[in-house]
Amino acid sequence: EKCTAIVLAAGQGKRMRSKIQKQFLLIKGKPVLYYSLACFQKTDWVDDIILVSSEDSIEFCRRDIVLKYGLTKVSKIIAGGKERYDSVYQGLLACENCDYVFIHDGARPFITEEMLNRALDGAMRYQACVVGMPSKDTIKISDKEGMIAATPDRRYVWTIQTPQAFRYSLIREAHEELRRGDMQGITDDAMVVEKTKGCRIKLVEGSYENIKITTPEDLMIAENFVEKI
Ligand code: CTP
Ligand code: MG
Repeated sequence: EKCTAIVLAAGQGKRMRSKIQKQFLLIKGKPVLYYSLACFQKTDWVDDIILVSSEDSIEFCRRDIVLKYGLTKVSKIIAGGKERYDSVYQGLLACENCDYVFIHDGARPFITEEMLNRALDGAMRYQACVVGMPSKDTIKISDKEGMIAATPDRRYVWTIQTPQAFRYSLIREAHEELRRGDMQGITDDAMVVEKTKGCRIKLVEGSYENIKITTPEDLMIAENFVEKI
């Protein structure tokens, strides 16, 4: 069965406030985006990688990341869209004969092969599986006035990461269906399935190091994690 990874790198990185898009900033001399691509590259059962970037960066991605680091599994580099879910959709359209698809934020460098194995296992069993970690903090839901409205039981609260792994037909149909209606407020891929399909979605552990590079201090944290991989 064929497994494709869609790696998203078409965002503008507004919260990072840097001139260079955050996925291209360097951690120990290599671009943020390199690290997750390298993990998919070295994982045997991953057949190919579709890299989604902004139109302007396709050439940079090809020359300065894919060719430079020998990432031979990258089969296509395509342009993304305005919102994350638009970029995901472009990636889904670009998949060929794929049975399982992994959707991953290129801004999350510290995935591991073990984590990918757990996600694939979950996706094979349940058709949909996302990685995340139990929340270390107590989470509160607020109302519109900034007053506490509810406190979910922390034992059941997870913070969600990527990759998110799906049976291809399921996530493709879910996207098609939701795009006909309202995609507003969709922040991850599991939500697309939650809103359209009845199926249960498996949660498996990612890691506390599997952070998304979002604001400047994340880069400093990342410098410390990179030694370990
Ligand atoms: N992404 C994408 N296409 C978009 C928006 C986001 O491919 N239209 C990707 C980003 O490149 C990133 C991942 O989705 O790898 C997660 O998004 P996020 O962390 O929000 O990145 P940005 O949207 O780039 O950052 P910001 O929200 O701060 O502008
Ligand atoms: Mg964003």
